[in-house]
Amino acid sequence: MSSKYWSDVVGKLTPYVPGEQPKLANLVKLNTNENPFGPSPRALEAIRGEVGANLRLYPDPNADRLKQAIAGLHGLSTEQVFVGNGSDEVLAHVFLALLKHERPILFPDITYSFYPVYCGLYGVDYRAVPLSESFEIDVDDYRQTNGGIIVPNPNAPTGRLLALADIERLLAANGDSVVVIDEAYVAFGGASAIPLISRFPNLLVIQTLSKSHSLAGLRVGFALGHGDLIEALERVKNSFNSYPLDRLAIAGATAAIADTAHFEQTRQAVIATRERLTQQMTRLGFEVLPSQANFIFARHPRRDGGELAKALRERSIIVRHFKLPRIDQFLRVTIGTDEQCAALVVALKEILG
Ligand SMILES: Cc1ncc(COP(=O)(O)O)c(C=O)c1O
Repeated sequence: MSSKYWSDVVGKLTPYVPGEQPKLANLVKLNTNENPFGPSPRALEAIRGEVGANLRLYPDPNADRLKQAIAGLHGLSTEQVFVGNGSDEVLAHVFLALLKHERPILFPDITYSFYPVYCGLYGVDYRAVPLSESFEIDVDDYRQTNGGIIVPNPNAPTGRLLALADIERLLAANGDSVVVIDEAYVAFGGASAIPLISRFPNLLVIQTLSKSHSLAGLRVGFALGHGDLIEALERVKNSFNSYPLDRLAIAGATAAIADTAHFEQTRQAVIATRERLTQQMTRLGFEVLPSQANFIFARHPRRDGGELAKALRERSIIVRHFKLPRIDQFLRVTIGTDEQCAALVVALKEILG
């Protein structure tokens, strides 16, 4: 489809396709890496507290309260914190502000599929660096001319984690370009690269409350790094939308970050369920990649990935299947509650016979 009213840019876009948000009730929804445990009650209370006459007023364009909470948690200054409407928006600004150069940027061939979409939107040239046979990142493969590097850690949709020592080598070998570590899933077992920020002015760490704090619906993400990198993002943000976070989001996110007990309890529950589900699916014959995320990536040696996803759907269970080279035999399964995962195992047993 196209229209004479469209700009050239729009005609050439290949937009990102998010995982399905089905309208049907009673589905076991394990397809978009949401956290099944729900937000902190304190966050919900703070959001309710914001619902009132003050909604006639614009929110704080700098979301200072939230920046202070994030900076305090990580021992940084507020000048080292950028906040946005979900990490997707933060990432969009990163591509324009810090990754758009003459030289191509580098990211894995199998990774978050929004990255090439941003490249298309902003005209950023890129080169996809193949993961190894075992779907791992080898940082030595990134020793090539580049205009920047972006990797999720843990990677998506594989769930595989890169050691902090490898990230340090990547940063040291690429001092002339920005290295972005997208830590959307780091809460579920990985070590964050945040402590490296003080030593590497080329490091930008991106996080989100969507999965770690069960707040995908509130849309809050942030970037941490040297003040110069943050200033670049502020310049783009203030040329695009002065108020990316509304009053409810600022209040809810600030309270969620303060509730460290809820965060700790729910992330441990996700980790424990992930380990159990990994064992159960391994027993059913699946090859499950080692995951440090809130999802697992698994294939069955004798059953087609697409067929399995379809058979699960017929049983009201939805998982994510990517029709992409190298991974079209895999299912990406979000870690749900114990009950949801048990329902998945029962359905898989039935399907596999
Ligand atoms: C690797 C990665 N980065 C970023 C995001 C975006 O998260 P959000 O925009 O909800 O913060 C996702 C979401 O699935 C993701 O998988």
